Amino acid sequence: MVLEIILADTTTTIAWVILLVSIIGWIIYGLANIRSARREVGAEIKLAANRKPYYDDERLEGEKIERTQLIGLAFLAVVTIALPLYWILEPGRMVGAEKEFQKQFEVWGGGLFATTAEGGFNCAGCHGGMKGGGGVASYAITDPTTGEVKHVNWKAPAINTIFYRYSEEEVRFILEYGRPFSPMSAWGLVGGGPLNDQQIQTVIEYMKSIQIPRDEQGKLPNAKQQEIQAEAERLVKVGTYATLGEALFNLDLGSGNFSCARCHTKGWSYGEPQIAGGGAFGPNLLGGATVRQFPLREEMIAFIKAGSEFGKKYGEQGQGSGRMPGFGLMLTDEQIAAIVDYERGQ
Ligand code: HEC
Ligand code: HEC
Repeated sequence: MVLEIILADTTTTIAWVILLVSIIGWIIYGLANIRSARREVGAEIKLAANRKPYYDDERLEGEKIERTQLIGLAFLAVVTIALPLYWILEPGRMVGAEKEFQKQFEVWGGGLFATTAEGGFNCAGCHGGMKGGGGVASYAITDPTTGEVKHVNWKAPAINTIFYRYSEEEVRFILEYGRPFSPMSAWGLVGGGPLNDQQIQTVIEYMKSIQIPRDEQGKLPNAKQQEIQAEAERLVKVGTYATLGEALFNLDLGSGNFSCARCHTKGWSYGEPQIAGGGAFGPNLLGGATVRQFPLREEMIAFIKAGSEFGKKYGEQGQGSGRMPGFGLMLTDEQIAAIVDYERGQ
C-alpha cells in the first residue's frame, strides 16, 4: 500500500526522476573527478588549485566584494518580500485546504449514502433519493401474539432537516445503533453495522450538505412552514382531524419528519396507527400523562422546542436520552402551542 503510493503518485514520480538524475549526475561527476585526479598524480604541487594566484587586492576589495554584497542583498530582498507574502497567503491557503477536505468528505459521504445500485449503502434508496426528502422502506413485521409475518411499507423520514431536530452526537447515535425495531438498521461497527467511525463521519458531512438552507434565525424557511400549515389546515377542513394540533401531531409531510405520531403512535409509520399518542418509540402521552410530567404548559412547550438531551432532567421526573427531537427550528411557536394544547387534552 505504502509502496504503491511511493511508486504511483505523479508528484513522487517527478521526485523520483529528479532524484535519479542527480544521483547519476553525482556519479558522473565523481568518475570524472577520479579520472582527472589520476592525471594529476605527481603534478600535485604545480597544479594544486589553492596554489593558483587569486585576484589582486584592488579587484578583491572592489568588484568582487561588491558582487558578493549584491547577491546577499538580492537574497535579503527575496526573504523580506517572500516571508510577508507567505504570511499573507498562508491563512487563505489553509481555509482553502479545509474547504477542499470538506468537499472531499461530502463526495465520499455521498458515495456511501447512494443506492445499492450505485455502490452505496442505500440510505438514498429508503430516504427518498440523494436529497433525502423522505421515502418508504419495505419491511416485514411479526405479530407478537399470532406470530403472523406480514409485509409493510415503513415511512423513512426526511434526512434534509435532520440537523434542525438533532445535534450531531444524536445523529451519530441513530446511525451507529439504528432503530432496531424498524427498517433502519445499525450502521456503525459499535452497533454491529458495516461502517467504521470515519465512514459514519463522512456520511454525517454529506447529510449536512443536503440540509434545507436555513433562514436568518437558523429556522426552517417561511415557505416550508407555510406548506406545513397549509397541509394541516387542509386536513382539518376535510375532516380528517378535529383540530390543527391533532393534524400537526399526525402530519405525514416529508414521511413524518414534522410530526409526533411516527414515534408516539404505534403502527403509524406503516399505515396501521393504533391509539394516537398511545406510545411506541416515545412514551405514552395519553390520560393526562403530559400534564403530570409538565404541570406548567410553558415547560412542555419549552421541552418540545428543545427536544431531550442525554442525561438531562425534563419535566417532573423525566430524564432525556437525546432521542426526542427538538421542533423549535422546524415548527412555529403557534404550531407547537397547538400541538401541546391538543396533547394536554388527551
Ligand atoms: C431499509 C431502509 C433504510 C436504509 C437502507 C436506511 N434507513 Fe435510515 N431510516 C429508515 C427508517 C424506516 C427510519 C425511521 C425509523 C423509525 O420509524 O423510527 C430511518 C431513520 C433514520 C434516521 C433518523 C431520522 C429521524 O428523524 O428520526 C436517520 C438520521 C437515518 N435513518 C439515516 C440513514 C442513513 C445515513 C442511512 C445510510 C447509511 C440510512 N438511514 C439507511 C430506513 C432506512
Ligand atoms: C424520533 C422520535 C420522536 C418524535 C418524532 C417525537 N418524539 Fe416525543 N419523545 C420521544 C422519546 C424517545 C421520548 C422520551 C424522552 C427521551 O428518550 O429523551 C419523548 C418524550 C416526549 C414527551 C415527554 C413524555 C414523558 O412523559 O416523559 C413529550 C411530551 C413528547 N415527547 C411530545 C412530543 C411531541 C409533541 C412531538 C411532535 C412535535 C414529539 N414528541 C415527537 C421520541 C419522539
